[in-house]
Amino acid sequence: MIDPSAVLRALMRIAPEYCSREQLATELNVSPAIIVDTIQSLQASGYHIEERHDRSYRYVANNQLSAPVIESGLTTAIPFELRILPTVDSTNAYLKRQVMQSPLTKPLVVVADTQTAGYGRSGRAFYSPEQTGIYLSIGLPIADQQSFDAGLLTTSTAVVVAETLQQLFAVPVALKWVNDVLVNQHKVVGILAEGVTAPETSQLTAVVIGIGINLTTKAFPADLASKAGAVVTKQVAVTRNQVIQELLRRFFERYPTYRTGDFMPVYRQLSMVIGQQVALKAGDQTYRGQVVDIDQTGALVVRLANGSLQRFTSGEITKVNLATGAYRG
Ligand code: BTN
Repeated sequence: MIDPSAVLRALMRIAPEYCSREQLATELNVSPAIIVDTIQSLQASGYHIEERHDRSYRYVANNQLSAPVIESGLTTAIPFELRILPTVDSTNAYLKRQVMQSPLTKPLVVVADTQTAGYGRSGRAFYSPEQTGIYLSIGLPIADQQSFDAGLLTTSTAVVVAETLQQLFAVPVALKWVNDVLVNQHKVVGILAEGVTAPETSQLTAVVIGIGINLTTKAFPADLASKAGAVVTKQVAVTRNQVIQELLRRFFERYPTYRTGDFMPVYRQLSMVIGQQVALKAGDQTYRGQVVDIDQTGALVVRLANGSLQRFTSGEITKVNLATGAYRG
């Protein structure tokens, strides 16, 4: 037998041209019969490989999530492991279990086609139907608690996702503090960062950043229908693998320097809350006021009704009063 990804990689390199089975066999040093079997097994597992009457093949990108496809042509400053799962309860929960079993020695990225129990902030369910979304978690080992900044990691991830969507889909992206990504005033991405601590020492050992993107999701459950939306509403040529590749490229490019906050000007530019009247839930209190800034550490600075300035490092904006009408995010 042969590793099917070797055949896939050879086909991807030559695409959109066709490649004969003899050429593949010579290149991979196996018999043509093995090439035929391997291509059949790739087709059976969901890859689109076209066959011509002259017994040549070509790879055609499709909606099938694939580690070899995502990894092909992706070079990152930091090496990471990538796992694709057809289904899982939650990619964040999966990663947290992994970390508890054995500490991460390098970043581990997990992507699932669907989640049966995807969740967001405050334990809310995250709608995760198959084929239409991206449900991805990045597990990062944390060697030294002092070298970690939750606020800036969250805001930098929001910028990474926003820039990825802008680049690939040319959509107008806005950020709602702290890390909701909106298109046309509908939430299309949720981000949830969770820490994992060692039970014996209570030291932070890893951080799991979960990213859920409604890419082409159509029918949302009734309670989400007015707030949630999809990045694109019509058929597009961009595949989920391309989105994941670009997102991971940008994420690992920024990760070594995220603590400098050098991306904060971009975050502010994309923010839809600066200058707006908002309601903010922090702890068990709700605050109302005008957002005057998001500072260099990612904290929200609000002028409250009594004129005082208050800085929030966590909380959730529950309402934004826009001139165009209220967003109830
Ligand atoms: C939020 O909007 O409150 C955050 C939603 C985060 C959803 C993602 S999908 C991938 C990862 N797995 C989960 O269960 N949650 C995150």
